Amino acid sequence: MTTTYNDDILFFDGINILDLALLNQTPFYLYSENIIANNFLKYQKSFGDNPHLICYSVKANSNLSILSLLVKLGSGFDIVSGGELSRVIQAGGDPSKTVFSGVGKTEEEIRFALSKNIMCFNIESRDELRTINAIALEKKSCANVSIRINPAIDVDTHPYITTGMQDNKFGIEQSEILDIYKEAHELKGINITGIDFHIGSQIMDIGPFKESILKVIAIAKELKKNNIKLSHIDIGGGLGIPYDNERSPDKSLFISEIVDLLKPLATKILIEPGRSIVGEAGLLISKVINIKKSTSKNFIIVDAGMNDLLRPPLYNAYHSIKEIVDNGANKIVCDVVGPVCETADFIGKDRNLSVLKGDYIAVESVGAYGFSLSSNYNTRMKSAEYLIAKDGQNIKKIRDRDTIKQILENETKYLL
Ligand code: LLP
Repeated sequence: MTTTYNDDILFFDGINILDLALLNQTPFYLYSENIIANNFLKYQKSFGDNPHLICYSVKANSNLSILSLLVKLGSGFDIVSGGELSRVIQAGGDPSKTVFSGVGKTEEEIRFALSKNIMCFNIESRDELRTINAIALEKKSCANVSIRINPAIDVDTHPYITTGMQDNKFGIEQSEILDIYKEAHELKGINITGIDFHIGSQIMDIGPFKESILKVIAIAKELKKNNIKLSHIDIGGGLGIPYDNERSPDKSLFISEIVDLLKPLATKILIEPGRSIVGEAGLLISKVINIKKSTSKNFIIVDAGMNDLLRPPLYNAYHSIKEIVDNGANKIVCDVVGPVCETADFIGKDRNLSVLKGDYIAVESVGAYGFSLSSNYNTRMKSAEYLIAKDGQNIKKIRDRDTIKQILENETKYLL
């Protein structure tokens, strides 16, 4: 875990969180530039001289400051919408280092991405291939594409975050893949550049990645026989992080095994990590509003709800919760819940904590799919975000908390 107690006060990346919590309105997200940079550089260094591009997956955490920090480190990006492409551009990212994934790219998004000369579209269906070809021809241009294979690999993660299993909506079945490449090869608006897969998220075992790569190698050989040359292989994202006491695979070992396996193909390697770059770099800080006891339960009611952190209700995900001041008092078994009017609104169940009304808690490892999955449900404001700069002292506000004016301004009140 990324936090430590110093004189009973919780610290994160050298920062006293109690001081921060007392000064700022809760709930808020707090990130560490150092942890993000270290994770990115670990991947970067592991590739050594082997041609590669790390395309950070924007959906994990799309704050402009985080994207621009990754731009400075040399990152490319994996996007899934026109909105994410706009973020990348605004953060100073290079569209020619950006890959566009997702099963439902709209014509408008395809036009926008083509006009920005993105690195490639990761194609998810034959229909999509034909649409992109037609748009490229109409614009008298040619779209770079990679075709996403669904390797039909079973991975040990929550069913909602598997993406490369037979019945998932993503990628193209192996039985169809050669035929689609052959069609793409004939299309005048299409330039084949690669092949890609993404098998899921929070994967703690590198076996399924290796299995998928072996399938891709076999396909690449077949393509070569058909004069179709690939210049890159994109192995997606998905490497997990420890949320409790698990051990995640070592990034260097992971990359060195992948590089060794792919060496015979002599192509550039792309990866699209999200969680393993930003996940452990974020905390959610929240205040205890009320404490409630019923016959069977103790509830700690905090000011962060499922609109701020959806992972526990949506995936039954575990996030460690720490008291910001360890008061040494006896801990009680409790459920930590939010103020949202849903029984699913919980942050943690059956936790051992000792907190009083007005105390603060920190929810750990929420840098990925934390803020980016947040919403205004119950007309609650999306929280502010802060970043601890790499000097370990400066704390920058990288997003203001929503205001009620902003939330209401897109709505119209018709006089009925
Ligand atoms: N590339 C593609 C095509 C993806 O679909 C994803 C994530 C990634 C890369 C990044 O995967 P990562 O390295 O972060 O595992 N909201 C869920 C996770 C959904 C992941 C969706 N795709 C969660 O909170 O666990």
